[in-house]
Amino acid sequence: MGNSCGSYQRNNQRPKRMSEFIFAINEADLADGGKSLVEVEDRLVLIFRIGEQFFCIDDVCTHDGGTLADGNHEGYEVECPRHGARFDIRTGAALCMPAFKPTQVHECQVTEGKVFVKLS
Ligand code: FES
Repeated sequence: MGNSCGSYQRNNQRPKRMSEFIFAINEADLADGGKSLVEVEDRLVLIFRIGEQFFCIDDVCTHDGGTLADGNHEGYEVECPRHGARFDIRTGAALCMPAFKPTQVHECQVTEGKVFVKLS
């Protein structure tokens, strides 16, 4: 598997270009349906887990820069707690007003129980 936005990959082999992926969180530390705010190279990102899939987006709402960390999320959507914009965690797409622009997604990769993020 592996698409270009917010995607994840799972394998038992070391990634070929591991140097581009940065450790973010242990797989076991994020329950199914959960999200976690993580700092990766001075950048705050949110890691979401749905089943065995992991997704990563910037902790930034594109409406007015609000944090999404305290927003409700369900399925593949997270809601900004400030004014209610929603984003697709797979693509970063803004799903409703007042946000129009997507938030940045980052590729995730799971290797040996660890979740790595490749910053976009
Ligand atoms: S800052 Fe997120 S909806 Fe306004």
